Amino acid sequence: MHAAPRTVFSCPVCHAAFLDVDGAAGAAADKAPWRCLNKHSFDVARDGSVHLLPAGHGHAGIVGDTAVMLNARRRFFDAGHYRPLSDAIAAAVVVARPTTPSCTLVDLGCGEGSHLSVVLDALQARHVDGIAIGIDLAKEAVKLAAKNERRARFITGDTRTRIALNDGVVDVAIVAFAPRKASELARVLRPGGSVTFALPLPGHLAELVQTWGGIGLADDKRDRLVNDLNADFAVTNEGLVEHTMVLDGNATADLLLMTPHARHLGDETIARARATSSFTTAMRALILTMTRR
Ligand SMILES: C[S@@+](CC[C@H](N)C(=O)[O-])C[C@H]1O[C@@H](n2cnc3c(N)ncnc32)[C@H](O)[C@@H]1O
Ligand SMILES: [Zn+2]
Repeated sequence: MHAAPRTVFSCPVCHAAFLDVDGAAGAAADKAPWRCLNKHSFDVARDGSVHLLPAGHGHAGIVGDTAVMLNARRRFFDAGHYRPLSDAIAAAVVVARPTTPSCTLVDLGCGEGSHLSVVLDALQARHVDGIAIGIDLAKEAVKLAAKNERRARFITGDTRTRIALNDGVVDVAIVAFAPRKASELARVLRPGGSVTFALPLPGHLAELVQTWGGIGLADDKRDRLVNDLNADFAVTNEGLVEHTMVLDGNATADLLLMTPHARHLGDETIARARATSSFTTAMRALILTMTRR
C-alpha cells in the first residue's frame, strides 16, 4: 500500500479536485503544493502530510484530541494493550476489502495512526495493493502518524463537516471511536464500498470509570449508528471484541489521559492512578461494517 496521491483529494475551500503536477516528476512532484482548479494552494509538509482545513476553521471551536491525549494513546498502543482492537478492525477490513487487486483505504479520525498501521500490515500480508489515507482534525495526531507510517498520506481535516476526498473514491473506510457524518460517508464511498466502525459497548472500561471517575457511555450507540446510515448503507458484518487488560500505574494513567475522561479528572487523580501497581479493566467494543448500496 502507498500514500495516496493528490488526485483523490478535493479542496476544502471550493471542493474542486486537486490537479496533477504538470511537468514535475518524482520527488519534485511529491513536494509541490497541492493546487485545485480554482488555484487554492496547500503546502505539503516534509513528512508528506497536508493541512486541508479552510482558513478560520479553528474559530468554529471544533477541536480534536490534544498532544497530551495523543501521546498517551501512542504509549498505550505501543505497550500492546489495544492490539486486540486493532486486530479486530484489521480482520473486518480484510473481509470488507474489494475483490479488485487495488484498494483505496481511509481511516477517518485516525488519531496517531496505530490502528491504520496494523490494518496496512494485514492487507500487505494478503498482497493487497492500493492507496491509504488517514485524516484527523488534530494537527498533532497527523504529525505523530506521518512520522511513523510511510504507507499512508495523512491529512489534517474535519471529517464531521466535509471529508476532503472526491466523490466515490473510497473502497474501505475505518471510523474507530471517532465522529462521523452519514452524508459524507455516502458521498466518498463507492457503491459496494464499506465502512468499518469500532464503537464502545456498554461496559467499555467500566471498571476505570467506577474507580477513577469520568463520564458514562450512552448504551444505544449501535442503534443510533445504524439508523443514521440506514438510507445508504446496510449492515454486512458485526462482531464483538472483549479483552481484559491488566495495567501498571503508567498504563492506567495513560488510559485515563487518552480518553475524554481526562477532561473531567484532576491532575491529582491521574497521579494516584500512576501510583497504583496493578489495575484491571476490560475493553468492550463493537466492530460493525456497513456497505454502501
Ligand atoms: C477517541 S480518538 C480515536 C482515534 C483513533 N481512531 C483510535 O481509535 O485510536 C478520536 C479522534 O477523532 C479525532 N476527531 C475529533 N473530531 C474530529 C473531526 N471533526 N474530524 C476529524 N477527526 C476528528 C480526534 O482528534 C481524535 O484523534
Ligand atoms: Zn479550491
